[in-house]
Amino acid sequence: MSKIAMLFASREGQTQKIIERMCSIVTRAGHDVDMIHLEGPVTKNRLEQYEAFVLGSSVRYGQHHDYFCRFVEQNVAELNRKPCYFFSVNLTARKTNRSEPHQNPYLTKYLRYGSLRPDSVEVFAGAFKWSRYGFFQRQLLSLILRVSDGSSAPAEDCEFTDWCRVIKFAERFVQQLDSHAGQNRYSGCKEWVCA
Ligand SMILES: Cc1cc2nc3c(=O)[nH]c(=O)nc-3n(C[C@H](O)[C@H](O)[C@H](O)COP(=O)(O)O)c2cc1C
Repeated sequence: MSKIAMLFASREGQTQKIIERMCSIVTRAGHDVDMIHLEGPVTKNRLEQYEAFVLGSSVRYGQHHDYFCRFVEQNVAELNRKPCYFFSVNLTARKTNRSEPHQNPYLTKYLRYGSLRPDSVEVFAGAFKWSRYGFFQRQLLSLILRVSDGSSAPAEDCEFTDWCRVIKFAERFVQQLDSHAGQNRYSGCKEWVCA
């Protein structure tokens, strides 16, 4: 059994929902998972107790949340030293030609200019929560949809997340944990390199 931290930044709850789904899969595989919203304080000492990490953040106004990026940069040595999976959640990813990690501009930019070197990355299409947005947010989201694929905003809340893909990502993480079980030291598997 490994002790895992799933650390996330979420505003309207979609990233949290994805983390919760992953948590249930990883827990069922016999691991001990703490889900930690990064809006709260996380100390360096606390991170040291974990053997692997899952990181997730949604995108707002073209970027992952500031507090998420700050947390990663402050703790990058620890995050890169151990198995670490990262995913991004945004609405642009619902478009077929932006749905793979190497095609998604937020994910590629974040990895190209940041110091995080995850073992594996994913991008998930998020949710459109019309009922929770104010006037300004509705205008902005309508614009994002129009610019990204010419579609108009849905008239009601809708979720674009591909849950099969979330499950596969969690299962891949479990497989990596299992393959490292019994090894005293993480030998590194930083397979994903941003071109
Ligand atoms: C104010 C606002 C700004 C957003 N900006 C972007 C954006 O720039 N690009 C994008 O693809 N999605 C954008 N989104 C969509 C979110 O990434 C999507 O709704 C996601 O599911 C939010 O996840 P969360 O509930 O975990 O925060 C935005 C959403 C809101 C409400």
